[in-house]
Amino acid sequence: MSVTYNERERMFRLDTPRTTYLLCVTGGRRLVGHVYYGPTVPDDNMGYLLGMGEEPVSPGMDARDLAGFFDTFPFEYPAFGGGDFREPCLKVRGEWGVGNCALVYESHAIFPGKPALSGLPACFGETEDCDTLELVCRDEVTGLRVRLFYTAFAHMDAICRSVRVENGAPSALTLERALSACLDLPGEDMDVITLYGSWGRERTVERRRLSHGKQSAESWRGISSHQYSPSLILCEHDANQDRGLAWGMTFVYSGNFLAQAELDQNGRVRAVLGIHPEGFSWRLEPGESFQTPEVILACSEEGLGGMSRAFHDVMRRHLIRGQNKHRPSLVNSWESFYFNFNTDRLLELGREAARQGVELLVLDDGWFGNREDDNSSLGDWRVNEKKLPGGLRRLGEELNGMGVKLGIWMEPEMVSPDSDLYRAHPDYALTVPGRPYTLSRNQLVLDMTRAEVRQAVYSQIYEVLSTAPIDYLKWDMNRQLTDVYTPSLPPERQGEAMHRYMLGVYELQEQLTADFPHLLLENCSAGGARFDAGMLYYGPQIWTSDDAEAADRLKIQEGAALVYPFSAMGAHVAACPSHTNGRVTPFETRGRVSLPGCFGYELDLNKLTEAEKAMIPAQLAEYRDYGPVFRDGDYYRLASYAQNGDFDAFMAVTKDRSRAVIITVQVLCRPNVPPRALKVRGLEERTLYRDRTTGVVRSGLGWMRGGILVEPKMGDFLSTLTVLERVEKEA
Ligand code: GLA
Repeated sequence: MSVTYNERERMFRLDTPRTTYLLCVTGGRRLVGHVYYGPTVPDDNMGYLLGMGEEPVSPGMDARDLAGFFDTFPFEYPAFGGGDFREPCLKVRGEWGVGNCALVYESHAIFPGKPALSGLPACFGETEDCDTLELVCRDEVTGLRVRLFYTAFAHMDAICRSVRVENGAPSALTLERALSACLDLPGEDMDVITLYGSWGRERTVERRRLSHGKQSAESWRGISSHQYSPSLILCEHDANQDRGLAWGMTFVYSGNFLAQAELDQNGRVRAVLGIHPEGFSWRLEPGESFQTPEVILACSEEGLGGMSRAFHDVMRRHLIRGQNKHRPSLVNSWESFYFNFNTDRLLELGREAARQGVELLVLDDGWFGNREDDNSSLGDWRVNEKKLPGGLRRLGEELNGMGVKLGIWMEPEMVSPDSDLYRAHPDYALTVPGRPYTLSRNQLVLDMTRAEVRQAVYSQIYEVLSTAPIDYLKWDMNRQLTDVYTPSLPPERQGEAMHRYMLGVYELQEQLTADFPHLLLENCSAGGARFDAGMLYYGPQIWTSDDAEAADRLKIQEGAALVYPFSAMGAHVAACPSHTNGRVTPFETRGRVSLPGCFGYELDLNKLTEAEKAMIPAQLAEYRDYGPVFRDGDYYRLASYAQNGDFDAFMAVTKDRSRAVIITVQVLCRPNVPPRALKVRGLEERTLYRDRTTGVVRSGLGWMRGGILVEPKMGDFLSTLTVLERVEKEA
């Protein structure tokens, strides 16, 4: 059993293979306190960690000074208003117009498996995979009931948390915040890590000393955003990739979020993650409930690498429903042609793809309406027959005849003011009555809170996908939400619009994946502005960034891999000189950097030199043979160009430890440096492994202690690929 209750100690324990999470109900007041989250401890009698001693110097539960006590107690789900002045998770405005709320334990249930979250992406698990604790708390004054859900996985070091708030009062209540999870931990000597960025610079890793006050990553842009990722990592100050304690929280949600760590007056840290309270409110009529999205927690003593591997495992086995879909090599028309294509040009590209063995051609933006640039036609998902006579069906059939599949791009959540859809239904776009709207990329956002708007788009998507042989859809979303007002809600409910928008998008993607189960769905948002665990529930891969230039991509993919598996990352060999930074990099290195993700070409294959074309078969073979090691195996970071400025190295090992693939990139050549012995990770110590290229055989220990030798070379952006394979015993 992964979840147990010790009645004598009033202690709940959640056990994963190598971690324990303890929470406890206090005697008397029946508060729910967080006791411990870290490497496995066998004991239940750990309640002393709540710090409820009787000494006057400790924050004892002294009725005379209850406010002081509440301000230090490690609440499992802190509520606003009662004396805890750290970040609250819950604020509910009731009949007196104030947000106070005090939660006490009411009951609990422990059961095998994991319930689905209606309308929301969430991890799933069978009864043999996980156990769930449902802890019911109540606010005695309002009658509000709060159900805290915890699922602990039996085979991986991850725990899921979410919350359901129910109005048990006779009158309406308004939620002003309902975050999904809180962790109160000892906070001394800790670092905090977040991922920040911008378009073309997504998920830059930022690590800093946890200091007093609040440090956050957040979005109220309506998408999880380029600027911050919906994850928060805490680790011991001296933790590195291999050693030291690290805790991670990541949000299974794609809209507004707040991820925040707060080091308090007593050296404890409160980390919270949930829907951003800015602009959020949710009205609950009597009997109604609100389900928060889910947070995944991962904890490891094997440093940041151990934490990343726990996240990757739980996402691949318990979140990403299309994980096992074949990830074809592809060529995408965007950086090849932009808007300047027709059937002949596409077929010419398709012929070269077929010759080379590239499996799929993605027709990106520009195939619909009158779209000759990015100023019009979003919302009019009818093929432009002037460019593509015979439509997508003819194109698809001709490509299929060559052995190449067809994929297309769409941006279903958007409408151009210059479109038939907008001319017929201007009210379908999010705008505030009486105010001029704010354009971005000359487009507006459709009001996905409304069923009729979703239907107007979905009927077109359905028509396109069911009348042509289309095997892949790139679902883009190219702007942030502004002017958020929906006529579907009364004024007092407008605070629900952003979340209802996300629920609408999720409903559409659920419908799409149900109607077209064969389709490979890749999400995208102006590159990686919606790269989160929520989107991964619907589509197994996401376009990582519009900057696909190899050196920049090393950093972006390192940041992404801190939380997300390589199987989630669209990674393409881009045109050269790079369309995003003008850099010139070797074709081989561009291939090596893309190999671990979902591989493709973002260039016109016909414009490559003969020497480059000649490299494609080897690149595709590497993707076929070694890509799965990264997508399904255990990832280890060996060196970080983002940190050291010149050299990058990372590797993966298959789950059965039979094969390891190590990729290095000498990003910048440094003169006069000796060869580097790069210590390999994750092998079986006593097993023999052969270097596939040199034939050298050493024990796992030998490779891990001694390392592989990486010779410095003249030149920049030079890569190596090393494969170590288990030496099978002779019969
Ligand atoms: C976004 C995507 C690109 C491309 C363009 C098309 O920017 O990130 O990959 O699809 O839109 O307009």
